[in-house]
Amino acid sequence: MEVIDAIYGRRSIRSYKNENVPEEVIKKAIDCGIHAPSAGNLQPWEFVIVRDKEIKRKLYKASYSQYHVLEAPVLIVICADIMRSAYYGSRGMNLYALQDTAAATQNILLSLYSMGYGTCWVGAFNERMVREILNLPKDIRPVAIITVGKGNERPKKRELRALDEVIHYEKFS
Ligand SMILES: Cc1cc2nc3c(=O)[nH]c(=O)nc-3n(C[C@H](O)[C@H](O)[C@H](O)COP(=O)(O)O)c2cc1C
Repeated sequence: MEVIDAIYGRRSIRSYKNENVPEEVIKKAIDCGIHAPSAGNLQPWEFVIVRDKEIKRKLYKASYSQYHVLEAPVLIVICADIMRSAYYGSRGMNLYALQDTAAATQNILLSLYSMGYGTCWVGAFNERMVREILNLPKDIRPVAIITVGKGNERPKKRELRALDEVIHYEKFS
């Protein structure tokens, strides 16, 4: 699949079939994730793959009972190792580390879409709870939970802001 088709075709999927996602698929997606750009090539990402029902249940609670977190056969929790970006001071730790992991997240979403899987980027969760559930060290910040599975819905068309509303020429207008 062309990248451009994946960009146009990908949607957030919040309902999944009860079908396994092979480990090779998840590994391939994470390999696409680690090919994302990162500030200074510092690669401040870590990935926790969750298939265990009990851990998923806890993450479901931590993400304000969003049902797709429980239902998805696999979760990928993308974390930022903040200290890896400390070379760039507070900008590195507070901005680049998060931008880098967001870029990796998008690569993962697009690659899974191109392999025929549905995903949803879940950012609404209680960070303290997720840290505790996954046993994350102090400097490892959970940034996103990606739910992964064979999709069981076709989302309705969503409204996008018009190009001429978001593009500015030469100066912000
Ligand atoms: C930073 C971020 C946080 C998000 N958090 C959630 C979330 O907690 N739960 C959820 O169901 N979707 C979440 N989403 C998905 C958005 O709702 C979704 O991308 C948006 O509505 C556009 O729809 P689309 O992904 O189908 O294009 C999040 C997306 C981003 C980028």
